[in-house]
Amino acid sequence: MTIDWTNVREDFPILKRKINDQSLIYFDNAATTQKPKQVIDAITNYYQNYNANVYRGVHTLSGEATQVYEDVREKVSKFIGAKQKEEIIFTRGTTSSLNYLAKSLASKIKAGDEILLTYMEHHSNIIPWQQLAKEKNANLVYVQLTNDGKIDIEDYRKKLNTRTKIVAFTHVSNILGTINPVQEMTKIANEKGAIVIVDGAQAVPHFEVNVQALDVDFYVFSGHKMLGPTGIGVLYGKMQWLEAIEPAEFGGEMIEFVQEYKSTWAAIPKKFEAGTPNISGAIGLGAAIDYLNTLGMKNIKAYEDSLFKYLYESLLDIDGLKIYGPDDLCERSGVISFNLDDIHPHDLSTALDLEGIAIRAGHHCGQLLMRQLNVVATSRISLYFYNTKKEINQTIQALRNAKEFFNG
Ligand code: ALA
Repeated sequence: MTIDWTNVREDFPILKRKINDQSLIYFDNAATTQKPKQVIDAITNYYQNYNANVYRGVHTLSGEATQVYEDVREKVSKFIGAKQKEEIIFTRGTTSSLNYLAKSLASKIKAGDEILLTYMEHHSNIIPWQQLAKEKNANLVYVQLTNDGKIDIEDYRKKLNTRTKIVAFTHVSNILGTINPVQEMTKIANEKGAIVIVDGAQAVPHFEVNVQALDVDFYVFSGHKMLGPTGIGVLYGKMQWLEAIEPAEFGGEMIEFVQEYKSTWAAIPKKFEAGTPNISGAIGLGAAIDYLNTLGMKNIKAYEDSLFKYLYESLLDIDGLKIYGPDDLCERSGVISFNLDDIHPHDLSTALDLEGIAIRAGHHCGQLLMRQLNVVATSRISLYFYNTKKEINQTIQALRNAKEFFNG
């Protein structure tokens, strides 16, 4: 299928917006992506035509809402290659999935156990484990990075041992764009008997992910970074693991029988979804997956890779611009962090905003990585398939203008 990528932009109403009298150029896709009208319409359609709570009623509307909600579970399951739809738990997003796991796995951790993380983790994949380690007197251990921003696999091997109970790492770094060798890392960890948890927030939106091929124990991601609404995310777990862990949130719909002083739990996945779920969010996520499937993840990846190469090479042409992360573009996804001379990233981002260009500046929820890079902040451009070479050209010119302005 040949895709007219410029035409795809017509589906995204926000791309018609003017910012500071300029056409919006949106390069903050790692923070959140824009939404196509198909997603917006699916949410509106739910509220206008079949709004009801799921599972709770025997009336028509509740039946319709439940059917669509469960259909989305099936869609997600197929999208990431899970074995069965019951392995898909809906959460509020990546952060809430990781917090949920940290609580659910608490009973498996005792004093002196180790939790292995890397220096490229987002705060959402650090703080829940810090809290768990504190509560259990367990130890956090960090894997070093190589100079070009990859996980040092030799250090990873060295730090894995029989005390390591959990290994949690990102599939794609939200700062460096590094694509980590998940399959290899999982195999090494599983050989030591450690549970593998992968943060897929920056991976699932951009290329095909197959959790069975990766063989991970748990995999988490967010809907809003893949065209869906905010407040919906996914916690995938291998069925044998979901059977082995306890729920961490309690209340309606996650129960089977309730007695005065004890209760029994509903079957998986409901056991892990207490209370009214984010029904409209799930419906929006379902529409987002339909949209991505129509374009095809292989096509999306190929187009994004070509845009990224163009962006990377154009940035390299700017004197004084330092790029962080791997030089080999095959090892990167569409995120690029950089600094330009001594210009503070916030100043640079403000200058670009005046020209209608949205990039992110700051520590990107990765303070540990910033210290590894020996910087306080970076600027970051992150792409999605609705971006164009023309937008890249305009941004490169804006960066050159900013350089001239700030350096006098
Ligand atoms: N995790 C998101 C980012 O990297 C918010 O911008």
